Amino acid sequence: MKKLILTSLVVVGLFTACSDKKEEVKQEATKTQATHETKMQEHKEAMKTQTKEVAAKVETKKEEIKTEVKKAVEKVETKVVQHKEEMKTEAKEVMAKVQTKANTAKEELSGKKLFATCAGCHGLNGEKKALGQSAVIQGWDVAKLEKALHGYKDGSYGGAMKGVMKGQAARLDDAKITAIAKYISSL
Ligand code: HEC
Repeated sequence: MKKLILTSLVVVGLFTACSDKKEEVKQEATKTQATHETKMQEHKEAMKTQTKEVAAKVETKKEEIKTEVKKAVEKVETKVVQHKEEMKTEAKEVMAKVQTKANTAKEELSGKKLFATCAGCHGLNGEKKALGQSAVIQGWDVAKLEKALHGYKDGSYGGAMKGVMKGQAARLDDAKITAIAKYISSL
């Protein structure tokens, strides 16, 4: 009987020890899991922070690029405006030159100016008989004057002193003859 009791005690003892070990292993497992979870959480947080940082960097870069593009566009615009101004100035200069040339041409063709060489013989208003010989040309119409001047040029018109007028008319081209005829007819 004593032996049986002893054996029972040993069995109970062993059982208790085994149970303790089980509890220990369980606790250990729980601990490991908790640690793992904490680490995962930390990792997640770190990833989040990193993602945020990268996003912020991308945003900054975007702004920089925007500013750069703006600057470039502004530069191009300034150049275009400058170029436009230059073209305007150049066009103005060319126009002024053309105008000057046109004015000179006009003046050359001005009947009044051309008539200055004739006035010595024909009078300032064409009221004289040139060298006491010609008709008074004041008031002649354009066609009559043109016919006379072309005629002196090619020898088909004139009186005794047509030689004098041939030299005068020879210097006049068609346009000048028209201009001078118009002027004389207006006197
Ligand atoms: C040196 C003097 C002199 C000058 C300068 C002169 N003429 Fe005459 N002109 C004459 C004489 C002289 C006649 C007459 C010629 C003739 O016998 O046909 C004449 C005739 C004319 C006639 C025709 C008149 C007619 O009797 O049928 C016309 C038109 C005329 N001249 C226009 C001009 C014009 C235009 C100029 C200037 C470009 C000019 N003359 C310059 C001397 C001159």
